[in-house]
Amino acid sequence: MRVRFMRTANVAGIAIGGLSAMLAIAAHGQMDTARSSNGQKAEAVEDAAGNLRVPDAYRTTYQSLGSWAVSADQGSGSKELHLVYASPGTIAAYSRDGHFPDGTVLVKEVYEAATEPMTTGTVSHADTLKGWFVMVKDSSGRHAGNKLWGDGWGWSWFDAANPSKTTSTDYNVDCLPCHQPARASDWIYVQGYPALKR
Ligand code: HEC
Repeated sequence: MRVRFMRTANVAGIAIGGLSAMLAIAAHGQMDTARSSNGQKAEAVEDAAGNLRVPDAYRTTYQSLGSWAVSADQGSGSKELHLVYASPGTIAAYSRDGHFPDGTVLVKEVYEAATEPMTTGTVSHADTLKGWFVMVKDSSGRHAGNKLWGDGWGWSWFDAANPSKTTSTDYNVDCLPCHQPARASDWIYVQGYPALKR
């Protein structure tokens, strides 16, 4: 159903947008293929030793999964907003297979929020970027012995000042305890991501 709908939408896009729309669709198709066939997307965020980095262009090339609002301790609004992205092809693969394919990259941006009255009510928006959580799906245990890899994923946090060097040292300490409630869904809080609901 979803595929058929998207096709219709693409056709409409070509009719309206002409050549540029066609080029955009072609480029997107190519990325999907690269990701799903051999996990190439993961190459860009992972070196041979398993050190991760924040992918450069995730804001334009990744798929938006959803967002989380963490309430302010006092008063109204949110103190933090979390925006989650997935590498190209993730939504289609997850919808089809019900799991994240090897090489899937998830990026969670953590923003300090600012809250103000707007014409819609009391509203919080993303203000200062604190940093990123990055996870890379690893179905084969390819970095056994690296303390930032295990339980099917590579795990790291990056301060906003340095997207290429993690400050995390051990995912068992830094990440896993907090992800226990999501264990049954491969450690991912999928309930927050509408496109992954089946
Ligand atoms: C304080 C608890 C806590 C810690 C520590 C923590 N996480 Fe999370 N993480 C969560 C929660 C809860 C969510 C979803 C809700 C939210 O973002 O507030 C989440 C979401 C994520 C997401 C988005 C995908 C998903 O699972 O829904 C990524 C990626 C992520 N975490 C990576 C990491 C990594 C990597 C580490 C360790 C470096 C880590 N987290 C440490 C609690 C935590």
